[in-house]
Amino acid sequence: MKETIKQCFSERFGTAGTVYASSGRINLIGEHTDYNGGFVFPGAIDKAIMAEIKPNGTDKVRAYSVDIDEYAEFGLNEEDAPRQQWARYIFGVCREIIKRGGKVEGFDTVFAGNVPLGAGLSSSAALESCFAFALNDLFNDNKIDKFELAKIGQSTEHNYCGVNCGIMDQFASVFGKKDNLIRLDCRSLEYEYFLFKLDGYRLVLVDSKVKHELVDSPYNKRRASCEHVANVLGVETLRDAELADLEKVKDSISEEDYNRAKYVIEEKQRVLDVCDALEKGDYETVGDRMYKTHEGMSKLYEVSCIELDYLNDIAKECGVTGSRIMGGGFGGCTINLVKDELYDNFIATAKKKFAEKYGHEPQIYDVVISDGARKI
Ligand code: GLA
Repeated sequence: MKETIKQCFSERFGTAGTVYASSGRINLIGEHTDYNGGFVFPGAIDKAIMAEIKPNGTDKVRAYSVDIDEYAEFGLNEEDAPRQQWARYIFGVCREIIKRGGKVEGFDTVFAGNVPLGAGLSSSAALESCFAFALNDLFNDNKIDKFELAKIGQSTEHNYCGVNCGIMDQFASVFGKKDNLIRLDCRSLEYEYFLFKLDGYRLVLVDSKVKHELVDSPYNKRRASCEHVANVLGVETLRDAELADLEKVKDSISEEDYNRAKYVIEEKQRVLDVCDALEKGDYETVGDRMYKTHEGMSKLYEVSCIELDYLNDIAKECGVTGSRIMGGGFGGCTINLVKDELYDNFIATAKKKFAEKYGHEPQIYDVVISDGARKI
């Protein structure tokens, strides 16, 4: 990927710049908890967005996406927003740095990536984090701290892409460390690295390659439900609520909002259970909580879909230790904790059964936990 980018940059701009990268992420457990002040447990993976960048001495950004084969040119003021979605991510990052008093001047860039799109692996966070990290290095003497870099990516989603996301994806992309998962407390922003080396097990993603484009921004609606219940309960976020509190207000909220909040409150505890179990090498408990998360995301939070439920059923039938839908939902991957000796049969069965039912095989990705944002 680096060679392609370098060749393309040199052909287009007749010079060479500096190369940066940032990664996509997995999340072992803790889904839709980040914007509720709860815990998440992600790690960066060996799939990344890479960009070569060089300041060009003007007030314009000239950007080329290798994968989409499109070029965009835009200024750095609010009214200069480009129309292509991919360019809006870069523009958003520039604007968010400027809004925080940081410096961004014109630059040339060529970028490419191998984070599968729409698979729930946060290709957009990888793109934002790559540029936030690079522009901090090129124009700001690395004075912007790492949390602020993650927040710059998150604000880009909020203000330029219409997704009211939490901090997990950008956090994982910026803070990722080889062989480590990171438990983040999204209320205090305290985090802890957990060495993640599986013994006798493998972690594998099964990508349905299905993306249900839903009108009405269902992600933002889920978030609004949670905020509403927190408001009724008189707490800042659902992190500060227990199931007993929820029962007390059951009659004054809709059944839908009740179910959403119940899922979030239960998921909070599951992350802590999984971290404890991992430290003890108790993979059965890890797997049990993964299945419970899937059930909650499917029945209570309603962010799964028939294809992902089907992959979860296949995992169960094959004796897979833990399996669940990963990421925001409405398509994408399941993440599976599989005993070494069951791996081949699981993958073969999942491919065959899924293809019989939905006409195409799922894509399989072995998870390799890797570094996050970096200069290459
Ligand atoms: C998306 C968002 C994250 C998080 C997950 C669900 O990936 O970007 O902030 O809310 O969904 O856990």
